[in-house]
Amino acid sequence: MDLTLDSVASVASTGKSSFGEVSDQIRAAVTSCAACSLRSGCRAPVPFDGPLDAPLGVFGEAPGGVEDAEGLPFQGPSGLLLNRTLVALGWARSRCYVSNVVKCRPPGNEKPKRPFVASCRPHLEAELAAGRFRAILALGSTALSALTGEHGAVSAFIPREDLRVTVGGREVPIVACYHPSYILRKRSEGADAYEVAMRVFASQLRRAIRLASEDVVEHPERDPEVSPEGEQGLAQGDEVSGRDVEGDPVAL
Ligand code: URA
Repeated sequence: MDLTLDSVASVASTGKSSFGEVSDQIRAAVTSCAACSLRSGCRAPVPFDGPLDAPLGVFGEAPGGVEDAEGLPFQGPSGLLLNRTLVALGWARSRCYVSNVVKCRPPGNEKPKRPFVASCRPHLEAELAAGRFRAILALGSTALSALTGEHGAVSAFIPREDLRVTVGGREVPIVACYHPSYILRKRSEGADAYEVAMRVFASQLRRAIRLASEDVVEHPERDPEVSPEGEQGLAQGDEVSGRDVEGDPVAL
């Protein structure tokens, strides 16, 4: 998907602003948003968590109950699974920018309908325009379609290595991944189903981490004063193991 919309231009026009200032502007726009009817059914819009210059952007669907109560994305069971898997792979959540393509909790935690994703799109575009992500992890089909413009089951996108979002001429690879809530639901189908899903989840996270760790060849608009530093990633073949959301060991 290629972004050429007004939000990109407006973030680009803040060229001299620090990431902190742009981040404050995006947060303020999200928290004051009442563009669609989801706003009246939630406690408040949930903005992002993490720095815009993080090497890895992680986008989910919409806040759930815990996120609505706490005002941050991925805080409940899905967030715990995400955090633990990242740590098991040698990558802390603090080195991610974590957000959702829809910022308000849908009633009953329903999958947000397309008009709600469309209403929230200016926030997503501002995040993509301002972010300096080297890779983006799309968790679940709603995030995937908002980021790529393509629709379909996540499983069809998982093998694809051609997914990209182009922002201001800069291409950012997108890694498709099952949503953590899908992995958690797999537990009811037995240990084998859960382990298979967990392996795919971890392998997609590993791929996103590798892409986020790669050296940037061309990055003309990057401000050296606010560049991330000390990044370390995974090398091909690194062995990892971890614990799942309930603390049980899991082979990744
Ligand atoms: N599910 C999501 O997609 N996002 C969250 O923040 C929490 C659960």
